[in-house]
Amino acid sequence: SSSTQSHDPFGFTGLTYDDVLLLPNETDVIPSEVDTTARLTREISVAVPLLSAAMDTVTEARMAIAMARHGGIGILHRNLSIEAQAQQVDLVKRSESGMITDPVTVGPDATLAELDALCGQYRVSGLPVVDEQGILLGIITNRDLRFVPPSAFAVRRVRDEMTPMPLVTGPVGISREDAAALLGKNKIEKLPLVDDAGRLCGLITVKDFVKSEQYPDATKDGEGRLIVGAAIGFFGDALERARALAEVGVDVLVADTANGHARLMLDMIRTLKADPFFNGVQIIGGNIATRAGAQALVDAGADAVKVGVGPGSICTTRVVAGVGVPQVTAIYEASLACKPAGVPVIGDGGLQYSGDIAKALVAGADTVMLGSLLAGCDESPGDLVFVNGKQFKLYRGMGSIGAMASRGKKASYSKDRYFQADVSSDDKIVPEGIEGQVPYRGPLGAVAHQLIGGLHQSMFYVGAHTIPQLQERGKFVRITPAGLKESHPHDIQMTVEAPNYTGR
Ligand code: XMP
Repeated sequence: SSSTQSHDPFGFTGLTYDDVLLLPNETDVIPSEVDTTARLTREISVAVPLLSAAMDTVTEARMAIAMARHGGIGILHRNLSIEAQAQQVDLVKRSESGMITDPVTVGPDATLAELDALCGQYRVSGLPVVDEQGILLGIITNRDLRFVPPSAFAVRRVRDEMTPMPLVTGPVGISREDAAALLGKNKIEKLPLVDDAGRLCGLITVKDFVKSEQYPDATKDGEGRLIVGAAIGFFGDALERARALAEVGVDVLVADTANGHARLMLDMIRTLKADPFFNGVQIIGGNIATRAGAQALVDAGADAVKVGVGPGSICTTRVVAGVGVPQVTAIYEASLACKPAGVPVIGDGGLQYSGDIAKALVAGADTVMLGSLLAGCDESPGDLVFVNGKQFKLYRGMGSIGAMASRGKKASYSKDRYFQADVSSDDKIVPEGIEGQVPYRGPLGAVAHQLIGGLHQSMFYVGAHTIPQLQERGKFVRITPAGLKESHPHDIQMTVEAPNYTGR
C-alpha cells in the first residue's frame, strides 16, 4: 500500500570541486584572447565572472571599488547599521564616474580642517564651493592648501583660500569629448558643470578619464559610475535598509541568508520586485542548494539565484546541522530550474583554486562568489597580522560567534542570516562558522590576474572562446582520491611559493 511505499532515503550522490576535472578538448583558443563576459543577473553583465562575498572580512567600499574596476562586482556586507552600509554604497558610486551628477561640495564658511576631513572621507583632492542655493562660488583643491601651515587649518576658511569664480565650467549635458578637450586646453583637473542660473549640476574630473583607460573592463552603470551590490536581510528593518541603499544608488541587492528556501525570504523578494521604487535595482536571492529551492526563488521573481549551503571555507553548517549539498552538484541542480527561466546562477563558496571557477561554470553557474580567496587582499577590511614572521589577514564566517555576537557593538546584524535573530544572549548563539586567518596576498589586482588567468587557461584547454561555449563544451570526468592526489604537486617539497598555489 502507499503508506508502506518508501522513498530512497539516500537520494543521489553529491560531487564537489575536488571530485571532478574538466576534460581537455580540441582547441584553437589563445588564452589571452578569450571573452569572459558573463551574466550576473537578468539585466547586468560583467566582464569577469567574479563577486566578492558579503562578509565583514571581505567586502567594504575599498574591495567593492577594486572588484568593479577589475570587471567583477563587490557585494557589501550587512553586519553594520543601515546608515553605515548606505555610506559604503555612496563611496563606491562616487569613486569614479563619467560625470558626477551629485558632487560632494563644501560651503564657503567651512574651516580648512572641515574641508580636509571631507576630502579624506571621500578620497578626493578638492571640492567645488557652493552657497546655500547651490550657486557655484569657486573651487578648492590640494593646490590651494599647499602653502597653508597646518596650524592654520582650524581657523582659516574655505572662502579665503579657494579659487573664486569665474572658473572654467561646462554646460549640463556636455559630451565626454568636449569635457576632455576643455580639461586639456585649460590644464585643469576638475570641470564643474553649471546651469544657466549658475547652479552647480555636476562635476567631471580628469582622474575619471585616466581610470577608464587604466581599467577598460570596469563594471559601470549608464552614467559611468562603478556598479556595486549590497546584502540585506529579509525581515525586521530589511525593507528600510533596502530603501536606504537604493536611495544612494545601489545597483544590486542580495537578499542574503543561509537558507533562502524560506517563506520570509521569498516574501521579501516578491515585495521588492513588486515595488516600483526598486525598478532600477536587480534582486539576487539565496542561498539554496537544490532544484526546488532554486525554482522557488525563480518563481518569486529573483534576477539571479545564489547557490551554496555549507561549502564555504569558514562554514560549519554541514557539521553543526548536518545539512548541505556538495557544491558542484548543488550548482547543477539549481541550474536545472534557472536555465529554462533565463535566470543566472551564482556559485557561492567553496572555491579554493582558480581551476574551480571553470568547474563551477561548466556545472551550470554563470558567475562565482569568493570569500577566502579574496580575504587576504589589501582591499579587504582588517589589518595585517604577523604570525611567526608571516603575514596573514583575519577571515571569519558571518555565522561565527565573532560576527553574530553583539558584544562590543550596538547590535548584531548577522544573526538573522542564520534565523537566530530571536536569540537574545550571546552565549545561546549556535554558530555555523569559524574565525581564522588566511595568508596575506597583496593587492586585488594581482590576485584577480591569477584567478582570471586560470580561467583563461581552462577555456583554452576546453576549446571555448566565450563563457557560453565553455558551458556547452565543458565535460567532467569524476576522479578518485588517488586522482586528486595526483592532481596536486606530489612527492616533492615546495621550495618556491607560486602566486596561484598555496598547497592543500
Ligand atoms: P569561501 O569558501 O569562498 O566561502 O570562503 C564564502 C561563502 O561562505 C558563506 N558563509 C558562511 N556559511 N557559515 C556558513 O555556513 C558562515 O559563518 C559563513 N560565512 C560566510 C557565504 O555564502 C560566503 O559567500
